[in-house]
Amino acid sequence: MLKNSKVVVVGGSSGIGFAVARQALAAGAEVVIASRSPDKLHTAAQQLGGRVSVQQIDVSDEQAVIEFFACVGPFDHLAATIKPQLPSGKFLDNDVAAVCAAFDAKFWGQYRLAKHAVRHLRPHGSIVLTSGVAAQRSYPGYSIVSAMNAATEALARAIAIEIAPIRVNTVCPGFVDADTPIAGRADYVRKLAPNLPLNRLGAADEIAEAYLYLFGNTYSTGSVIVVDGGVTC
Ligand SMILES: NC(=O)c1ccc[n+]([C@@H]2O[C@H](COP(=O)([O-])OP(=O)(O)OC[C@H]3O[C@@H](n4cnc5c(N)ncnc54)[C@H](OP(=O)(O)O)[C@@H]3O)[C@@H](O)[C@H]2O)c1
Repeated sequence: MLKNSKVVVVGGSSGIGFAVARQALAAGAEVVIASRSPDKLHTAAQQLGGRVSVQQIDVSDEQAVIEFFACVGPFDHLAATIKPQLPSGKFLDNDVAAVCAAFDAKFWGQYRLAKHAVRHLRPHGSIVLTSGVAAQRSYPGYSIVSAMNAATEALARAIAIEIAPIRVNTVCPGFVDADTPIAGRADYVRKLAPNLPLNRLGAADEIAEAYLYLFGNTYSTGSVIVVDGGVTC
């Protein structure tokens, strides 16, 4: 399905992004994974094998994003799966600077990636951003996560109409059994599992399938695919 395609996964060194990279490779793509830590990237590349290359990038730095895409060259699909350091406190307790830094990495990071990817994406190409189920539902301690995820979905819908025929979509994951659980949240998230209709957290591979679908489906743009195990509360 992705034969002769080049897929870039920013945030591809772990979790959902790593699963997207693995599935894209299995579908025949050449894959670039990118994130901040060279060690994580090289370990991930070794585990992935195949036609994968690595690029170090911090999406908080706009110039670095511009140079990153110049180095990658023409490509077909971008997946952004960045997870920043998230403040784990409640709204009234959180330090505003920490909240702004998280928002900067996740929301403005995806904004920078989408903006500077466009000139390198082939015309049939696509961008898939990542939100999260807190965009639509409220959980204690998740106010900043809700805000950044809702903003991400709104951004994707808005730019889909401006940069067509390049397609822009969002994957909205539910709670995933993550490689790197958020400090202070892991127990809370695990306790949610029995209340989900499917009685368990999701697997990164189950979320990743939605990115592959959106890369391939040439009539999907401006949409949000929710993969959340049926979260209802
Ligand atoms: N896991 C969940 O339960 C869940 C639920 C809903 C939504 N989501 C969303 O799904 C996405 C992936 O989550 P995940 O749990 O798979 O995350 P993860 O395993 O923590 O991976 C996050 C990736 O982002 C990279 N990264 C973080 N900050 C970066 C920056 N400033 N510049 C470049 N790369 C950066 C990390 O590598 P480095 O540290 O090396 O930079 C890593 O590759 C996130 O957007 C998250 O908010 C996750």
